Amino acid sequence: MSTKWTAPRIRALKGKQRFAMLTAYDYTTAQLMDEAEIPMLLVGDSLGMTVLGYENTLPVTLEQMLHHSAAVSRGAKNAMVIADLPFLTYQVSIEEAILNAGRCIKEAGVDGVKLEGGEIRAPHVRALVENGIPVLGHIGLTPQSVHAMGGFRVQGKTESDIERLIRDARALEDAGIFALVLEGMPSDTARRITEAISVPTIGIGAGPHCDGQVLVVNDLLGLTERPPKFAKKYADLRSELQRSFSSFKEEVESGTFPAPEHEY
Ligand code: KIV
Repeated sequence: MSTKWTAPRIRALKGKQRFAMLTAYDYTTAQLMDEAEIPMLLVGDSLGMTVLGYENTLPVTLEQMLHHSAAVSRGAKNAMVIADLPFLTYQVSIEEAILNAGRCIKEAGVDGVKLEGGEIRAPHVRALVENGIPVLGHIGLTPQSVHAMGGFRVQGKTESDIERLIRDARALEDAGIFALVLEGMPSDTARRITEAISVPTIGIGAGPHCDGQVLVVNDLLGLTERPPKFAKKYADLRSELQRSFSSFKEEVESGTFPAPEHEY
């Protein structure tokens, strides 16, 4: 018997049970992940790249996030659904962060939000948490800072960078995050951050020492043309879909579809 996953339940997994999170962007996929008992579904702003065809996540709007988050919420019965706050919907002021995160809760029915950044975002996190909105933090390779990083580059390689990331993680923990995504960093950096805080870390391209792991669903399903090194392909849907589309085309052109069993 499964029950609804919540921020306190996820937080309590620290040191007890590793857990999985996946990105989801639509109703059917969310339903299947929920049936597979994935505890957390992230409506990542990666949808800008995986679903909408942008080069990076920067153009994604709050309206697009609300549209996809509502679909995922309708598909997830037990999984905790988290909406990513897109670029410039939380950085400008605490007031905007509360209003925009609040819309994700009210209009899309999600259970919490994720935002990128460390110490500098602590006041925003504190305000959201004080207003009843669970927050998932995200540090390391933060894609909304792609220009500042000079590309999608692994972070936390030098001792001073590692110490800054640990400071960021502690500031976010102190502000009230229930879990923290660690993206694109050496395994040992992620291990040190994981050991430094009492909320679970969820790694992506951050090695095996995190409390949980997240993958972008398109990478896991083999839909991504050039998947990142850290992703594991659990299916080869790109070839399977290409094969299905070609077979349909051939059967329509040759007249073998529809067959008698498809007729009324
Ligand atoms: O947008 C996203 O999918 C994410 C994950 C990579 C953590 O932020």
